[in-house]
Amino acid sequence: MQPGEPSKTARGAAAYRAIHQTLEAGSIFSDPFAIRILDDETRAGLEESAADPARRPMRLFIAARSRFSEEALAASVARGIRQVVVLGAGLDTFSLRNPHAGVRVFEVDYPATQAWKRERLTQAGLAVPGSLTFAPVDFERQSLTDGLDAPGFRADLPAFFQWLGVVPYLTREAIATTLDYIAAVPDSEVVFDYAEPFANYSEGRREKIMAMAASAASRGEPWLSMFDPGEISELLREKGFETVEDLGVADLANRFYGDLKKGLNLGPGGHVIRASRRAA
Ligand SMILES: C[S@@+](CC[C@H](N)C(=O)[O-])C[C@H]1O[C@@H](n2cnc3c(N)ncnc32)[C@H](O)[C@@H]1O
Repeated sequence: MQPGEPSKTARGAAAYRAIHQTLEAGSIFSDPFAIRILDDETRAGLEESAADPARRPMRLFIAARSRFSEEALAASVARGIRQVVVLGAGLDTFSLRNPHAGVRVFEVDYPATQAWKRERLTQAGLAVPGSLTFAPVDFERQSLTDGLDAPGFRADLPAFFQWLGVVPYLTREAIATTLDYIAAVPDSEVVFDYAEPFANYSEGRREKIMAMAASAASRGEPWLSMFDPGEISELLREKGFETVEDLGVADLANRFYGDLKKGLNLGPGGHVIRASRRAA
């Protein structure tokens, strides 16, 4: 992150969700606020971005990770969970669409990104729901305990954590510390995504993935941590997560893409994981 600057990759992820609403009619992930929350400049650039076929795999992946996470969230609520924590929320709009009465949402983010989001909500005329609480935290420098205790999160009660598009940008220390925090919450569940190391990709794909990483780095947000599937699964089990569901691109495509998966490369790529303290 650039000190004191809001995340540029958060703006990019939000733009992908917005384009998905128009190009694919939100068929993987429907989000009526995705376009409204964008700033004018980003909204103006959507058409150009939509026309680039190279962006399609990432757009579908970003839609699918939100769909998977919100389905897991709904299942957690059905089991009785009443606290949701959105880690590194960016311009995520779950808190605006929260359909679950009595469920509190805590949005945790890098302080400058969170301040920018609050501005965006005001400028877009979107009211902050009463069920939403903001908690500014830099995962590399501050503890989640301090960040979440003050606004009233109950670490002694079950919670669902959504952590999308954040892990690659953190050091392994910050990832481990965050997982320790989540694992200490009773009956906790977390959904997050991660990328495989460059060496795992086929030659043609590797260049494209490295170009994406270089683009993020040029915006001050380098990819710091990538994982082999076996490595992340072992780390989660060490931390006490008994159930680990790891979906690669092919699994996501088969589950959520429908006809949109035609022509896509379904080799190694991004993964989305659901990890739970509860046995399956
Ligand atoms: C690619 S964006 C993803 C945003 C959102 N989850 C989404 O899917 O649209 C990365 C997010 O991670 C947050 N982030 C990155 N490094 C962070 C840090 N050290 N502490 C807190 N948040 C961080 C950024 O502020 C940003 O919101």
